[in-house]
Amino acid sequence: MTRDLSTPPVIPSGLLAGSPQPTLPAAQGRLVLRPWTAADAPVFLSAYQDQEIRRWHTRRPSSETGVREWFARYRQDWEQERGAHWAVARSGGEVLGRIALGSLNFDDGTAGVGYWVLPAARGAGVATSALTTLSEWAIEKIGFHRLHLDHSTRNHASCRVATKSGYRLEGTKRSAALHDDGRHDMHLHARVREA
Ligand SMILES: CC(C)(COP(=O)(O)OP(=O)(O)OC[C@H]1O[C@@H](n2cnc3c(N)ncnc32)[C@H](O)[C@@H]1OP(=O)(O)O)[C@@H](O)C(=O)NCCC(=O)NCCS
Repeated sequence: MTRDLSTPPVIPSGLLAGSPQPTLPAAQGRLVLRPWTAADAPVFLSAYQDQEIRRWHTRRPSSETGVREWFARYRQDWEQERGAHWAVARSGGEVLGRIALGSLNFDDGTAGVGYWVLPAARGAGVATSALTTLSEWAIEKIGFHRLHLDHSTRNHASCRVATKSGYRLEGTKRSAALHDDGRHDMHLHARVREA
């Protein structure tokens, strides 16, 4: 297909899909970001029973079969360079959370980030470690120029995670997202490659 842009792509097509999705060590080797496997379906499904995850994530699987379909889409996302999805786990152990890149734009070199952490693992820096590791990999290894995330202005924990991971607050998108309890203003944060 002809490319009608005057600027070269920031990231060449095929850079992600040309290799298997990597496992990324985080938190000085105490955590890993690794691809999801079918065996993770029960814990992934159980995460969406948590009230805080339900509060902030309206897209939810309804069964283990549904989760396995999500995991198949995750693999396709990598193969088709639409997204990248990782389980955040203790090194060699249990799943603690999820982190993902979406809205990939190779022409501009931008992507969006999303995450959650299981209730029992919260408050120990898991989200901050995972987000920092993922961001460094995406910017320094893959070549993204800008990563962005948004969260409800009422989600103070996510605001702290973003800020601690180098995502500066850029502004408030008024009434930008629909949650179960109605519309929310959303903070936009971004981490931009340093010159
Ligand atoms: C937001 C979430 C991912 C944070 O995960 P985590 O592993 O506990 O995060 P960390 O331990 O790295 O950091 C949490 C920070 O939030 C702060 N925090 C936690 N609850 C808070 C609250 N109610 N108000 C303000 N800050 C809060 C912690 O104090 C910490 O900041 P600090 O280091 O400055 O003290 C987790 O709480 C979660 O999954 N929540 C439900 C789903 C969700 O919100 N997903 C993100 C949608 S944008």
